[in-house]
Amino acid sequence: MANISVSLSNLKLPNPTMLASGIIGVSGKLLLRAANEGAGAVVTKSIGPEPRKGYENPCLAEVSKNTYLNAMGLPNPGVKFFAEELRIAKRGGVPVIASVFGGTPSEFSYVASLMEKAGADAVELNVSCPHSEVAIIGQSCELVGAIVKEVRKKVKIPILVKLNPNVTDIVEIAVEAEKAGADILTAINTVRAMAIDINTCKPVLANRVGGLSGEALRPIAVRCIYEIYEHVKIPIVGVGGIFHWSHAIEHILAGATAVQIGTAMVNGFQIFREISHGIKRYLEKKGYQNINEIVGIAHKEG
Ligand SMILES: Cc1cc2nc3c(=O)[nH]c(=O)nc-3n(C[C@H](O)[C@H](O)[C@H](O)COP(=O)(O)O)c2cc1C
Repeated sequence: MANISVSLSNLKLPNPTMLASGIIGVSGKLLLRAANEGAGAVVTKSIGPEPRKGYENPCLAEVSKNTYLNAMGLPNPGVKFFAEELRIAKRGGVPVIASVFGGTPSEFSYVASLMEKAGADAVELNVSCPHSEVAIIGQSCELVGAIVKEVRKKVKIPILVKLNPNVTDIVEIAVEAEKAGADILTAINTVRAMAIDINTCKPVLANRVGGLSGEALRPIAVRCIYEIYEHVKIPIVGVGGIFHWSHAIEHILAGATAVQIGTAMVNGFQIFREISHGIKRYLEKKGYQNINEIVGIAHKEG
C-alpha cells in the first residue's frame, strides 16, 4: 500500500488533502465535518481583528462550468468570537490551520497569537484576497516580509503564507516570504476578475470586481507552483481548480506537497476521500511507495 501521509513543517497530515480557506470554514462544526469526511487538515475562513460584515449581495456567481467569481469582502466574526469554533474543529484530530488577516503587521500578529492561544496548529496569512485591502500587501515584497517577521516574533506554530497570483512575479514574493521566516507557502489565492450582465448592462457582483476560482484557475495555479518550486526550499501547498484526484496529482508533480480544495466543495464532502483514494491508486499503478517520491518530478529532465 502506498503511503500518502505528508509532513508540512511540524504538521503531520494523514493524507495530502486540505480544506481551503473561506468556503465553509467559518463554522467549527463544518470544519469538524471536513476532518471527519477525510480531509488531512482544515483551514478556517480568514479571521480578522474585529467582526466584519462583508460586501452586499450578489457576492458569488458561476461564470462557466465549475468556475466562480466571488467578492465576499472577508466577512467574519472577529478573532475573539472565533476561538470556540476553533476548539470544535480540533476534535477532528487533524491539523487545524487558522487563516488570519489584518491591516498592519501588528494586527496580523495580534490575530495570529490569539489563534495560537486558542489551539491553532498553524496560521495561514491571507495577504492575497484580490478584492480586499489585503491584496495590496501580497503584491509587495516589503509588506509581506514585514508581516511575516512580525508574526514570526509572536507565534511558535508554523506560518503559511498564501500568495497572491495578481502580481508580475510571484516567485520574488515567495522568496521574500521564505526569507522572512515562513515555513510553508500556499499557492494560490483567486485571480482578480469581473463579469458583466448583458441584460442589466452592469457588473454581476455588487463589488464589481471579484476573485476567480474553480476549474479555470488550475493551469494558473500549476504554473505558479512550478515556478515557485524552483526557487524555495520550504514546502508548497497547491490550491486552485482541484475537482478530481488527477488535478491534485498535477499540482503535486509541479511541486506541491499537499493540496487544498475550495470551490469543488459545491459537489460535497466526499471529495477528500475520492482524491486520497485516487492518489493512492495512481502511486501503486506507477510503482511508487510514497507520495513524496512524486513531489516536483515534472521538473526532472529526460
Ligand atoms: C466563496 C469563496 C470564499 C473564499 N474566502 C477566502 C478566505 O476567506 N481566505 C482565503 O485565503 N481564501 C479564500 N478563498 C480562496 C480559496 O481559499 C482558494 O484559494 C481559491 O478559491 C482557489 O481554489 P479553488 O479553485 O479550489 O476554489 C475563497 C474562495 C471562494 C470561492
